[in-house]
Amino acid sequence: MTPLTTPRLLAASCLALAAGIAQAADVDAKAMLQLADQSGCLACHAIDKRKVGPSYAEIAARYRGQAGALRMLQDAILYGHSGSWGVIPMPAYGGAQQVLTEQQALDLARWVLSLAPPGAPHAAPAGSKPR
Ligand code: HEC
Repeated sequence: MTPLTTPRLLAASCLALAAGIAQAADVDAKAMLQLADQSGCLACHAIDKRKVGPSYAEIAARYRGQAGALRMLQDAILYGHSGSWGVIPMPAYGGAQQVLTEQQALDLARWVLSLAPPGAPHAAPAGSKPR
């Protein structure tokens, strides 16, 4: 695996761990960060700022607490996605590519949803806007 050497990645790792431990005990945040790193996700995504794609924290803030969000994000990871955040498409990792299994995509989706910014409500009531 690629060692997490840059300060930015280390910072992201600490944030992911803190968020994971505080908000979703059933997500192995460290393993998920490693999987995201190995799968190339972090070339386009960071936990807390926009790169090519939206930050995982803003994805979490948008979809947390919404019915079906977990499956929707799993599908986006497996089959690709476009149009929700801009014009750049998210590549597919399942299907013919078979980079990730369905279970891995589900685990990654659960991890992303656990990464809402500190202070965000754990599960916003349906229909409410995040602050
Ligand atoms: C080539 C750049 C790129 C890579 C690599 C990439 N993504 Fe994305 N991702 C994007 C873009 C761009 C979007 C926004 C798509 C849109 O507007 O719907 C996105 C959106 C997403 C979303 C939100 C989908 C939605 O419905 O709003 C999730 C979750 C996600 N990516 C997870 C991942 C994971 C996990 C990986 C690695 C397995 C990954 N991405 C790899 C560019 C990338």
